[in-house]
Amino acid sequence: MGDIGFTEKQETLVKESWEILKQDIPKYSLHFFSQILEIAPAAKDMFSFLRDSDEVPRNNPKLKAHAVKVFKMTCETAIQLREKGKVVVADTTLQYLGSVHLKSGVLDPHFEVVKEALVRTLKEGLGEKYNEEVEGAWSQAYDHLALAIKTEMKHEE
Ligand code: HEM
Repeated sequence: MGDIGFTEKQETLVKESWEILKQDIPKYSLHFFSQILEIAPAAKDMFSFLRDSDEVPRNNPKLKAHAVKVFKMTCETAIQLREKGKVVVADTTLQYLGSVHLKSGVLDPHFEVVKEALVRTLKEGLGEKYNEEVEGAWSQAYDHLALAIKTEMKHEE
């Protein structure tokens, strides 16, 4: 294994940018889901809160919850990568994440779609504070978290 090399600077970049996005959850969760659907229109049918409407609903609690979870858990992953050199998700949480995604019909390539939507949302939210270093830090943390979820999904199959 060895050092995965997540730096203190990267951790700080992730934490700082999440602080910015957190200030307008309704706006950025809407942007995040609009991007998901722009990249992969068919993903709409997987989400209970998107299935029944033509547009991405505004101020939908479930939509906001999913957007916040993805960002917040990626941020927590960044902290763990820096502190412990690996992702640590409680077993029960991981099992829940595995089963909820498996049940919803989520497949490996969907994780790339969500990563791209996350990156685009960061760009939108950070404006000139956005750069490749920020993108790299988020991508690295997200990839570790996504791998943990995907691995759990395979165990549950
Ligand atoms: C549900 C987290 C990636 C699709 C959930 C839930 C959590 C979660 C915690 C439970 C409901 C909630 O609390 O909002 C995450 C995290 C992800 C991730 C941390 C990546 C790091 C994905 C991807 C997809 C996806 C890639 C597919 C594009 C769904 C769907 C549900 C769900 C369809 C059920 C929501 C519903 O219909 O109400 N996710 N998710 N998730 N997730 Fe994810």
